[in-house]
Amino acid sequence: MGRLITVDDLKKHYPVSRSLKEMVNGERPAVRALDGVSFELEERESIGLLGESGCGKTTTGRLILKLEEPTSGSVTVDGQPIARLKGKALKEFRKQAQLVFQNPFDALNPRLTMEQSLSEPLINAGAPKAEFSDRIAAVMKQARLPRIKEVLPKYPHQLSGGQLQRIVLARALILGPRFIVADEPVSMLDVSVRADILNLMRDIQRESSLSAIYISHDLALVRYVAKRTLVMYLGRIVEDGPTEEIVLRPQHPYTKALIAAVPVPRVDQDRGPLPIKGNVPDARRPPSGCRFHDRCPIAIARCSVEDPALLPSAPGHRVACHLVAKA
Ligand SMILES: Nc1ncnc2c1ncn2[C@@H]1O[C@H](COP(=O)(O)OP(=O)(O)O)[C@@H](O)[C@H]1O
Ligand SMILES: [Mg+2]
Repeated sequence: MGRLITVDDLKKHYPVSRSLKEMVNGERPAVRALDGVSFELEERESIGLLGESGCGKTTTGRLILKLEEPTSGSVTVDGQPIARLKGKALKEFRKQAQLVFQNPFDALNPRLTMEQSLSEPLINAGAPKAEFSDRIAAVMKQARLPRIKEVLPKYPHQLSGGQLQRIVLARALILGPRFIVADEPVSMLDVSVRADILNLMRDIQRESSLSAIYISHDLALVRYVAKRTLVMYLGRIVEDGPTEEIVLRPQHPYTKALIAAVPVPRVDQDRGPLPIKGNVPDARRPPSGCRFHDRCPIAIARCSVEDPALLPSAPGHRVACHLVAKA
């Protein structure tokens, strides 16, 4: 397996409007959506980005897909920094990198039939018209959508949530991507069909040597589909390791709190709020030192002053905490 994606010290700061005091003081406030994230993704690997709402998961996905440009840092795919991609190379990248939307109703135009929705990416990529019907049939088979003739003339409102999510998946796969970013892929679906869709995504990945980044606030989902998990908190990765290690032996106090919230995570169950005090702090003014220190049950004085680096605690496992022993 080779390296597919390298994310290096990625930052995304969104400027926000200034208060009078900030104007007087010459400050330029920004939401630090992402504030120094580094990780790698191998070919055929699937990783999960896990964390509470607002921690920067979607921003990470959008930067990797080049839907937005970073404030600083880089994303490299196949050794090529994607920031420099233009023209033909950018078009090729757009085929290889696909987003699976969380809400099928956002992803599919209500006025287009399934056939039209599935044709759209082929048209945009300049595929020969003569290939359309075969390619659409093949990808529907891949997405386990039988009765192709019955489904193709239908509009989104005529299909079930599960069927729609299969179409969304088929649409993401039709150009033969090398990796997908699936942002909360089943959050809009009824719990009873979530496992079906996740199983399908897992099978497709195996069959087509696809890499995937699964984004979710739900540990059960990440555990289901990703062998490796990156836990994010306020624009940073706080822990990165094999998913089962993270579930069974979490190291970072934040990860421990996430795991404690779901002792036996299952994809067919919803869960309550986290058992940690307070809320995620304002991303305009992240706490000093370790960003988690004001909610951390074991913080010491050093934690409010010194920002912990993400360092190996065991082979293939990294943790950003002063109180976790380093390998
Ligand atoms: N376009 C934007 N402008 C300003 N702030 C944004 C924008 N997009 C995201 N943010 C902020 O960046 C932070 C991270 O957002 P996001 O990546 O969507 O988190 P997540 O997907 O983990 O919920 C949040 O504080 C969010 O409000
Ligand atoms: Mg999000």
